Amino acid sequence: MKVLVATEKPFAAVAVNGIREVIEEAGYELVLLEKYAAKQELLDAVADADAIIIRSDIVDKEVLDAAKNLKIVVRAGAGYDNIDLEASKANGVVAQNTPGQNSNAVAELVFGMTIMAVRNMYNGTSGTEVKGKTLGIHAFGQVGRNVARIAKGFEMEVSALDPYCPDEAISAAGVTPIHSVEELYSKNQFVSLHIPATAETKKSVGYDLVKLMPKNGVLINTARKEVIDEEGLAKAMEERPDIKYVADIKPDSAEELKAKFGDRVFFTPKKMGAQTAEANINAGIAAAQQVVAFLRDGINKYQVNK
Ligand code: 3PG
Repeated sequence: MKVLVATEKPFAAVAVNGIREVIEEAGYELVLLEKYAAKQELLDAVADADAIIIRSDIVDKEVLDAAKNLKIVVRAGAGYDNIDLEASKANGVVAQNTPGQNSNAVAELVFGMTIMAVRNMYNGTSGTEVKGKTLGIHAFGQVGRNVARIAKGFEMEVSALDPYCPDEAISAAGVTPIHSVEELYSKNQFVSLHIPATAETKKSVGYDLVKLMPKNGVLINTARKEVIDEEGLAKAMEERPDIKYVADIKPDSAEELKAKFGDRVFFTPKKMGAQTAEANINAGIAAAQQVVAFLRDGINKYQVNK
C-alpha cells in the first residue's frame, strides 16, 4: 500500500519522520510530494496512491479521478473545505480530518496577532492592553475553546456564539453564551473568527456586522478568508477609522486593503496558524495513524463525507 503525503506547505521535518515511522511500521510505503508548484505534479503523484495525507492542498474531482487506487484521504488539520466531499463519496473514497490536533497552535496565533494589533504593529507608538477587554468568539469549536482558555489568562471578558454548541458547554468553560451574531459583534471589542468556510458562512462577515463593533474594534481571522465579505469590511473600515483587521492568510483584495488602511490591517503571507512543530507532529501523526487504522482495521471515526 502506498501512502502519499502531498503538502504544498510542508510539515516540519520532525513531523514527517513521525509520519514515516507510523506508515512504515504498518508495512506501507510512504511517498512524499512537498512544495509542489503545479497541479500536474499532484495528479501524477496520486495515480497509484492508496491513501493521501494533505493539509490545505486541493483535492478536487480531477485529483480524485486521477487517483484510481485511492481509498482514503486524510486532511491533517481541521477545515476540509479543500476536499470535494461529493466527488470523494461518489468515488468511494473516505475523507477524514484530524479535529483538535492543531487547535492550540491556531489559538496562540490569535493572541500573537491581537497583541500586534493593539500595539500598533510594534511601530513605536503607544498602544493598549487586552486585560479586562471584551472578546467574542465566533464559533466555539476546538480552536474557539483554546482561544477562551488563553483569553482567561489575559483576564479578558469572554463570550461566544455557537448555535451548534449547548449553552451549558460554553458556560462550563467560564464563557458567556451569546445567541445572535449582531450581539456578538456589538458587545465585543475583539471578535475572533472560528467558523468553517461553508456555503452558509462564505462572505457572511462584512459591513453589517463589522460596523457594529465597539470603539477600537479588532477583528481577528484565523479561520478562512472566504468567510469575509471583503468589500463590506473595507466599507466598514472606511467609515470607522478605529477598526482593525488581522488575518492569518491574505484576503483576495490584500493590496487594496493594505493601501487603504496601512497598519490597521495585517495578513500572514501564507497560512501560519497550524505552522508549528507541535501542530505538525500532532496533526501529521494523527493523520498517519488514522490512515493505518482505516486501511488495516476499517476504523473510520473521523469521516467527514458520510
Ligand atoms: C486547518 O484547517 O486545520 C488549518 O487552517 C490549518 O491549515 P494548514 O494545515 O494548511 O496549515
